[in-house]
Amino acid sequence: MLKASLSILLGLLALGQAADTTPGWHFVQNGTSGVLALEAIVVSPTLAVIFDRASNDPLMINGHPAWGAIWNFQTNTAAALNVISDSFCASGGMLSNGTMVSVGGNIPAISAATDGRMAIRIFEPCTDPNGVGCTLFEDPETLHLATTRWYPSSLRIFDGSLMIIGGMHENTPFYNTDPVNSFEFFPPKDNGVPRNSSFLARTVPVNLFPRGFALPDGRVFIVANNQSIIYDIEAQTETRLPDIPNGVRVTNPFDGSAALLPLSPPDFTPEVLVCGGSASNDQIPSEQLSSQDPASNQCSRLTLTAEGIKQGWTVEHMLEPRIMPEMILLPNGQVLITNGGRTGYAAINSTGDPIGASNADHPVFRPELYTPTAPFGQRISNEDLPTTDIARLYHSTASLTPTGNIFIAGSNPNQMVVNDTIFHTEFRVEYLNPPFISMQRPVLSNVPQQISFNEQFTFDIDIPSNLPASNIQVALMDLGFSSHAFHSSQRLVFMDAELSSDRKSFTVTSPPNNRVFPPGPGFIFVTIDEVTSEGSRLIVGSGASPPVPDQGVPL
Ligand SMILES: *[C@@H]1O[C@H](CO)[C@@H](O)[C@H](O)[C@H]1NC(C)=O
Ligand SMILES: *[C@@H]1O[C@H](CO)[C@@H](O)[C@H](O)[C@H]1NC(C)=O
Ligand SMILES: *[C@@H]1O[C@H](CO)[C@@H](O)[C@H](O)[C@H]1NC(C)=O
Ligand SMILES: *[C@@H]1O[C@H](CO)[C@@H](O)[C@H](O)[C@H]1NC(C)=O
Ligand SMILES: *[C@@H]1O[C@H](CO)[C@@H](O)[C@H](O)[C@H]1NC(C)=O
Ligand SMILES: *[C@@H]1O[C@H](CO)[C@@H](O)[C@H](O)[C@H]1NC(C)=O
Repeated sequence: MLKASLSILLGLLALGQAADTTPGWHFVQNGTSGVLALEAIVVSPTLAVIFDRASNDPLMINGHPAWGAIWNFQTNTAAALNVISDSFCASGGMLSNGTMVSVGGNIPAISAATDGRMAIRIFEPCTDPNGVGCTLFEDPETLHLATTRWYPSSLRIFDGSLMIIGGMHENTPFYNTDPVNSFEFFPPKDNGVPRNSSFLARTVPVNLFPRGFALPDGRVFIVANNQSIIYDIEAQTETRLPDIPNGVRVTNPFDGSAALLPLSPPDFTPEVLVCGGSASNDQIPSEQLSSQDPASNQCSRLTLTAEGIKQGWTVEHMLEPRIMPEMILLPNGQVLITNGGRTGYAAINSTGDPIGASNADHPVFRPELYTPTAPFGQRISNEDLPTTDIARLYHSTASLTPTGNIFIAGSNPNQMVVNDTIFHTEFRVEYLNPPFISMQRPVLSNVPQQISFNEQFTFDIDIPSNLPASNIQVALMDLGFSSHAFHSSQRLVFMDAELSSDRKSFTVTSPPNNRVFPPGPGFIFVTIDEVTSEGSRLIVGSGASPPVPDQGVPL
């Protein structure tokens, strides 16, 4: 008896880093990504796809290093994915039919890859929980962008297509000196002719990876450098909005981040939050910039209504300055701000005093939470949040997972895989577990796999008996695509929900139309008294291939 419990004890000790199960926020390191997680997107309830550049990553495929992988959240292992073109600094997202598309890339550094700058990489919906049989499809001859794009961003729009924004044609060392000042779409619109953008032309040389969001009326908000616009896709007009205050610039290589705050019924009023970046002048040659220049701690918030735009940006401050933060929407409506450095810039070996090859220094090890509904001045806190010791600088990723915790991976401010510098290539995957991960949680069942717009639907729920259910939030979420400190297509739409009197089922009203939630895959999470369920995946809308017609009722 004694012997048995002793061996159990020894067994537990042997695990070494046993997960801390006391309720509270915890970082847990588990597994290595095999390829650098420079881009990441959740593609199924159990899987994410990650991309690096074609490089010297340790995971191999077909006798050469892999630069794509499928990450399994259940086993915490990576399986190599066969990518043909170089996915370095590409973008991507989900279409209305559930297919993931990766777009753009670079001229490869190794011969195993082809030029990825016009690439379109298709990953069809993957139903096997371990990704068996799920592959990436590329046909560079027939399936490609209209122009070369390195460092573009992309987002899913109201008709279920991807809008692809900006980028550069060729390798430029730091600033965007060879810009692609246009938008295009996949599937293509306008017979594949890109649309020129005066906004992009105006925001060089700090306008790589523009941060864009689909607004609930179908238009798109975009911020680049210190400027912002609303782009009307149908009328093809750009409306200039006020600049980000105080000269703060938020796109690559001065990366801040941005999030569309949760949209709530009945009005779904859009508000954007833009945090971090740098207030440096963008005309200073990069070799005169320093890895020790302070990053910005500014968060700027704007309500995207006529009245809100008239009032302009309101300014708040993070607890620490951050270049290259990631902003992750949580199912309870809070925004987690993680990753990044206190000083310097994005990109590699271009400042006068890089640390190794890193243009950034002083990694921020502690995340913070922004609570959009809290009173002004009381929205930002890192109380109860833990500290990691893994730097997440340039080429890091983060995403909410279907389980409800936060996947954090990557960091490589080096050209290729480098193991022996202070800011080396980082393969360790971490999860940031919210307190509810170690608690008894609500469990959803019989959630429909497809819902239409403006309809009522029901599902079952098992609510832990200790929860009074006095605060109920039902969130429909797009988990987005993480690349270069930005989470494109990330979205949270709260839905009105009625809990049955026996506490066993919900009747929920779906978003009114395909502009409030662009049609495509989503996850439903239910938060009861701050305890969040696991997410349940579904397709919102008809599931047809883009472009899909308007559905539901107008706002
Ligand atoms: C870097 O380290 C990983 C293990 O963490 C190893 O598999 C890989 O071969 C190393 N690569 C280089 C270039 O040193
Ligand atoms: C790491 O993940 C594996 C697979 O899910 C799991 O069995 C193991 O307990 C985890 N380890 C820690 C420290 O969480
Ligand atoms: C768009 O911009 C490109 C590059 O500056 C230029 O060659 C082209 O003529 C422009 N197209 C239109 C329709 O203005
Ligand atoms: C935005 O940047 C431009 C160019 O550097 C500058 O002229 C302008 O004053 C800035 N706007 C604000 C509000 O700081
Ligand atoms: C950074 O660039 C300089 C100048 O080209 C070069 O001498 C140096 O070796 C590079 N450093 C790293 C770490 O790549
Ligand atoms: C989704 O649409 C894209 C673009 O037309 C297409 O390439 C892909 O095969 C479609 N996937 C499915 C599952 O229909």
